[in-house]
Amino acid sequence: MVVLKSPREIEKIRYSNLIVAEVLQVLAQKVAPGIDTFTLNNLSEQLACEKNAKPAFKGYRDYPYSLCTSVNDQVVHGFPSRSPLKEGDILSMDFGIYHDGYYGDAAITVGVGKISKLAQRLMQVTREALFLGIEQAKPGNRLSDISHAIQSHVEAAGFSVVRKFVGHGIGRALHEDPQIPNYGRPGMGIRLKPGMVFAIEPMVNAGGYEVETLEDGWTVVTKDGSLSAHFEHTIAITEEGPVILSTLEDQGAALKGIA
Ligand code: CO
Repeated sequence: MVVLKSPREIEKIRYSNLIVAEVLQVLAQKVAPGIDTFTLNNLSEQLACEKNAKPAFKGYRDYPYSLCTSVNDQVVHGFPSRSPLKEGDILSMDFGIYHDGYYGDAAITVGVGKISKLAQRLMQVTREALFLGIEQAKPGNRLSDISHAIQSHVEAAGFSVVRKFVGHGIGRALHEDPQIPNYGRPGMGIRLKPGMVFAIEPMVNAGGYEVETLEDGWTVVTKDGSLSAHFEHTIAITEEGPVILSTLEDQGAALKGIA
């Protein structure tokens, strides 16, 4: 069942997502060769605490950390570790917050120092795909119009979309209906309505779309060892179209994908 949110609820979800966006911005500024992801995890907890907000992922299905840090061929749900990041790595950071009854969820991928042309293009295409998906999140469209826009852009660039993990509704729960695949034919699934709030999150591999989960039960990696990028925003559907809740930019800039 897809729960519609009132404007008042959407403001609360926005607040949680603004905390997420602020934390990710601070973390992104810290990323450099030599820093380790365990330090970034601890900083995310400290920043959340300062905002009187609770990290959403720690303890969720026994996930042991507050931040997901996925390096290079790690796709999502990587564990923070004490091993320092190296020049040329790419790091996906996924963070969630619970505050006053509502969740926020967003993710970014950043380069560590100077990165390869391939890594730059992968990150750029994944981010563009997210914004093209968001653009389709408007009343009257169907759910898979979002999915199709993402897949088309990714595959036109010669990359592939991870099938096994999807975006989701979000609000009073971190994961609500509907599931939002990042691939599919257009014009399918539920009709989109004002009041729907979605976390849209393409995961894109430079090689094939197949992934596998490591022994730790969480870390997802590409099967072929290729690089992977992940961007996520929480958005609300309004009469006027999509509004990005997990951005610090103004909407005009954010919707153009500048944020
Ligand atoms: Co999510």
